[in-house]
Amino acid sequence: MASEISFLMCAPDYYDVDYVINPWMEGNIHKSSRDRAVQQWEQLHQILKEHAIVDLVPSQKGWPDMVFTANAGLVLGKTVVLSRFLHKERQGEEPYFKQWFEENGYKVHELPKDLPFEGAGDALLDREGLWLWAGYGFRSELDSHPYLAKWLDIEVLSLRLIDERFYHLDTCFCPLKNGYLLYYPAAFDAYSNRLIEMRVPSEKRIAITEADAVNFSCNAVNVDHIVVMNKASSGLKAQLANAGFQVIETPLNEFLKAGGAAKCLTLRVTEPVQEEVHANVSVESRILRLEGHLLDSGLINRSLDLIIDKGGSFQVLNFQLGVQRQSTSSADVKVSAPSHNVMEEIISQLIDLGAVDLPQDERDAKLEPVVQSGVAPDDFYVTTIYSTEVRLFGSWVKVHNQRMDGAIAITQTDHGIVAQCKLLRDLEIGDMVVVDVQGIRTVRKPELREQRNSQEFSFMSAGVSSERRVELVVEQVAWELRKVRDGGGKVVVTAGPVVIHTGGGDHLAQLIREGYVQALLAGNAIAVHDIEQAMMGTSLGMDMQRGIAVRGGHRHHLKAINTIRRYGSIAKAVEAGVIKSGVMYECVHNHVPFCLAGSIRDDGPLPDTQMDLIKAQAEYAELLKGADLILMLSTMLHSIGVGNMTPTGVKMVCVDINPAVVTKLSDRGSVESVGVVTDVGLFLSLLMQQLDSLTSPYVSKVGY
Ligand code: ARG
Repeated sequence: MASEISFLMCAPDYYDVDYVINPWMEGNIHKSSRDRAVQQWEQLHQILKEHAIVDLVPSQKGWPDMVFTANAGLVLGKTVVLSRFLHKERQGEEPYFKQWFEENGYKVHELPKDLPFEGAGDALLDREGLWLWAGYGFRSELDSHPYLAKWLDIEVLSLRLIDERFYHLDTCFCPLKNGYLLYYPAAFDAYSNRLIEMRVPSEKRIAITEADAVNFSCNAVNVDHIVVMNKASSGLKAQLANAGFQVIETPLNEFLKAGGAAKCLTLRVTEPVQEEVHANVSVESRILRLEGHLLDSGLINRSLDLIIDKGGSFQVLNFQLGVQRQSTSSADVKVSAPSHNVMEEIISQLIDLGAVDLPQDERDAKLEPVVQSGVAPDDFYVTTIYSTEVRLFGSWVKVHNQRMDGAIAITQTDHGIVAQCKLLRDLEIGDMVVVDVQGIRTVRKPELREQRNSQEFSFMSAGVSSERRVELVVEQVAWELRKVRDGGGKVVVTAGPVVIHTGGGDHLAQLIREGYVQALLAGNAIAVHDIEQAMMGTSLGMDMQRGIAVRGGHRHHLKAINTIRRYGSIAKAVEAGVIKSGVMYECVHNHVPFCLAGSIRDDGPLPDTQMDLIKAQAEYAELLKGADLILMLSTMLHSIGVGNMTPTGVKMVCVDINPAVVTKLSDRGSVESVGVVTDVGLFLSLLMQQLDSLTSPYVSKVGY
């Protein structure tokens, strides 16, 4: 008997399943047999007594789960951190456990109220005593981990539990002697699995199957080479034998009904302190403020969900509710994350939602120099479509050329400090780049309710059938186009060849002719098919009048390309009278600038097609400057490219027959972008009809 090892147990005199606080208890209320429970507990007690000392804490009437002494607290040396139960059903156990620890000479630490932590059920020492694994996600709060590190002077590694069947760390994780680890990987998130793999070499990790996991094979008590558990498959037994362990199975199914087994029924109260280890905790916390229509826009839910989804944890410290319909609310939220990396990920997304530091906590953005041209410092902040500001020398500076997937470069010019979004390839040695997530905010105007509804294309929330929806979009787009044109604004169209194939070419040409389009961003194909149609009446060999394939028509587009190549450019072909109609004709004729960006599948290409994609991207970006409205017509490639270059505040209408394209583009979390799933030819035809009716003398009858 290894006499220096002691366990604490509590006899099941009052044990029963009286309530449901974990999935195992569901359907098991009063279904366990007291006699069998007593017998099973006695057997476990007996086995342990052969290998260690077992102390007993008196059981208490009315506290049926007190048998699970693992949840009494977390012991290291003569110090204990007492549990703070999440559920009121177990909170009454706390004073009894506290009394036992005090009577037995332990120094008792108690966590602040409302900070749940469920003792050794959720915190397991590495068997060499070098660090502490601490679970969170269901019963214990991440914010309790720094207290453990401080009071027990040990390094704490936080693991996030994600399967509610394994709600306590000890239900799916069991460190064993000699650095082995028995665990069920699927109970943890990816980050936690990575952490485990970093700390425990693969030859020491014994990953169990789900079948073993649901038999609580990880809920095992390890004394030297003995591992006591409810049940183990023969495979698992063999694996453990290989690692030098002997499994002792002892049935505990009466306790499984309450969600516990061998380990839960015991608390190791002798855990030697390792002198050389000291406190270290990677949990970070930060307080952020959220402002706006937090409740009615769902912003608060989205923010809090995001924190949890990403593996963090939160406390709402202060919520100021805007009582009037128009007034905004504000909330100060303490965000905790298990590591700096996770914190950065959470904060950068909260920044997108408009979260800001509390004024007293504001700090300047962190900058690091570019040391290799075209390469950002590792930890660079990745920009989004939201208008952004960075704090430099104590004041907030607006970031220019806002776009997504860039870095923020700070340069000193004659006019002072300039912050701008730069693509990685444009970074130059000496540029200072914003890193980390400190001193960055996005600027949101919390619009009034009424404004919100009128600014946003309001059919977004209209919940109408799709045909009616198309009509509504068309009406509103027509209205916008008129407004922008008559106000001297800028509409940019990006369009794919489907526009021509579906018979929309004439309508798009008309739009250009009537001054509704200020720039066209496209690829080689639409221009080729448009020119093919203008010259030969076919689009990719299809007769556009009769809708049938023309014999030999598949060669038409190459002939069209060849002709333009002979003239040197589309403009020269227009000038020479070779092209007399169509989209490209109208662009040239009406001095509407266009950029045709090349791609790997292009035939020809046309002399105008920019095959240097870096140049094409720059030309796109240039033509997009100052756009008020972007019409995206059936081109996934160019629409996504354009979407990435465009900050919020620019209205975008994406038309595509493929719902996936539309969702991808309209799902930018900004109210200005809308998508409509329909045939683009039909859409353009309806749009022109609508525009024609707007210009008619009966315009007032249309109902605007
Ligand atoms: N019914 C108890 C609860 O849900 C079971 C506790 C099991 N204990 C453990 N250390 N896993 O709290």
